[in-house]
Amino acid sequence: MSQVFEPNREFSKNARIKNMCEYKELRLQAEEDFEGYWDKLAKEKIDWFEPYDTVLDESNAPFYSWFNGGKLNVTHQCLGRHLKTRKNKAAIIWEGEDGKKRIITYLQLYYRVNRLANLMKNQFNIKKGDRVVLYLPMIPEAAFAMLACAKIGAVHSIVFGGFSAEALRDRVIDADAKLVITADGAFRRGQPYMLKPVVDEALKEGCECCKKVLIVQRNFEDIDYVPGRDYVYNEMIMNESQHCDPEPMDSEDPLFLLYTSGSTGKPKGVQHSSAGYILWAQYTMEHVFDVKENDTFWCTADVGWITGHTYIVYGPLAMGATTIMYEGVPTFPDVGRWWKMIEEHRVNQFYTAPTAIRLLHKLGADEPKKYDLSSLQVLGTVGEPINPDAWMWYYNEIGGGNCSIVDTWWQTETGGHMITPLPGATPIKPGSATFPLPGIMAEIIDEEGNPTPKGEKGFLCITKPWPSMIRNIWGDSERFVKSYFGDCKKDGKPVYFSGDGAMYDDDGYIVITGRTDDVINVSGHRLGTAEIEAVLAHHSNVAEVAVAGKPDDIKGEGIFAYIVLKGEDSIGEEIEMIQELNKLIIKEIGNIAKLDDILFVPGLPKTRSGKIMRRILRSIAKGEAITQDTSTLEDPSIVTTIEDLFKR
Ligand code: WTA
Repeated sequence: MSQVFEPNREFSKNARIKNMCEYKELRLQAEEDFEGYWDKLAKEKIDWFEPYDTVLDESNAPFYSWFNGGKLNVTHQCLGRHLKTRKNKAAIIWEGEDGKKRIITYLQLYYRVNRLANLMKNQFNIKKGDRVVLYLPMIPEAAFAMLACAKIGAVHSIVFGGFSAEALRDRVIDADAKLVITADGAFRRGQPYMLKPVVDEALKEGCECCKKVLIVQRNFEDIDYVPGRDYVYNEMIMNESQHCDPEPMDSEDPLFLLYTSGSTGKPKGVQHSSAGYILWAQYTMEHVFDVKENDTFWCTADVGWITGHTYIVYGPLAMGATTIMYEGVPTFPDVGRWWKMIEEHRVNQFYTAPTAIRLLHKLGADEPKKYDLSSLQVLGTVGEPINPDAWMWYYNEIGGGNCSIVDTWWQTETGGHMITPLPGATPIKPGSATFPLPGIMAEIIDEEGNPTPKGEKGFLCITKPWPSMIRNIWGDSERFVKSYFGDCKKDGKPVYFSGDGAMYDDDGYIVITGRTDDVINVSGHRLGTAEIEAVLAHHSNVAEVAVAGKPDDIKGEGIFAYIVLKGEDSIGEEIEMIQELNKLIIKEIGNIAKLDDILFVPGLPKTRSGKIMRRILRSIAKGEAITQDTSTLEDPSIVTTIEDLFKR
């Protein structure tokens, strides 16, 4: 059993949920009166234009609907209602990579959003229900555009700025979008880069739906303009009125689409609702990060991913918090950049991905010591399992041993946090997302649908609907049902399959073992690549590791590990390393998980948001040609480097 860390007592005293008794009490309330629990929250949290008639309609499961009959507008929740008490409070603090800062108050944000909403309505004829694709860098205009869509009832679909023209085109076509909002470009690693030419390329063919492009000038590089199609935001925005009435939206009207990869086929347009989504964004912001009125919250994600949607924009603004948005990379001009920003802005809650933690640990383990990080109270991680080594470094070096780490498990499809510690209540353990939030009915089940005993891996499922759940896959209801709802039923209703594996440890803590589609089958034994990686990451010379299945004539699949060593010094010691790593594996998992092959590589293929592209590694390990789009990688050349090393 790994070490348990109790919450900081001083922090707990003022936390929204102060101890495990309070947590359990809420869980019990939700179990005993499920609808009553959500009804209370929805009434308490949302400023409704018109009240709803029913809390939950399950008649068309798994197409659940929440708060039917209610009317609201998410921008009233995020902006309008705050003007009475917070009009001059900083809503967004933006920092450019070059150090430039912009502070946007709630009133200023309200006006900006209204102007852009009017511009979309008046100049581009965007109406309720129309789709607008946003292809933007990390600039405040990305938040303006999201909220402006929400104001008039248009459905935004953000395409991450690292996606290629092809990927952008597919998404514009699939969403049948009328307008693309983009920028000339932005800055990365101190250099300007371009976005607009990608849009030009994307719209060259097949995008008849999209007749207009609105361009925000950010880096003022020379770009081509297509007359009659392209418009400059900076020139037009001030001509619009700063007043705009919010469109009254039904609870279930879609707020946004966000494309995400499935295990097969084209990306899925995950569709989220208005009321249920914003309720959970706000609730989780308040309870999981425990943000107080005067706090400064920083989520380092990109707005192109769900984490950026919920925890840079909608969650913080719904609760009236101050949210930081940073344009660039964590290593510019040096590896102390983020720690310097935490010091300067006196950041209270910091939310990032394990990959970033590992990277900054590797490149500058002692760097945080140079900065005053004492303002921090809650540290968060998301997106992948965090290995205990990285967790401990985060806990000790960033949090100074005083901050709770909220290891938040959730997905694009869940809209907000699902399984996570509560910082004032939950005793935490490295590598565990701990327990489901009250109202979230998580279960770990085996192939037959039976609950798994402690220590045994199973499928992580959510057995009851929750307000911020995916409503559909855009244009493909059949795929929605197929992807997420198997044959397994609970109380006659289909169960949501997360695609992740998980298990309870001896203390009943939930440990996420990784995607079940990343499972490899060795001699009939199922092994999670994440589990093997966690063990290898324990080795003091291992900086990063990724494991993939490799075809094996005898065992079905063998285990292939890509390893990035810490520092140059270890390079000569590779043979000893292989033995040591296998010793570790045998000790932690057993002989069945012994590595078949190891490749020492200089880096791993990662998206610009830091996620390892495992599919590429799987393909290389299998000796297949790379068919995936590598243009979204931080450094596409790493793929060829690894392929060359593999072939040697
Ligand atoms: C993984 C990101 C372990 C998981 C919000 C999930 C995690 C996928 C964690 C969703 C965590 C997310 N521990 N794994 N705390 N959080 N994941 O849609 O495999 O980009 O299914 O949403 O990330 O990724 P997505």
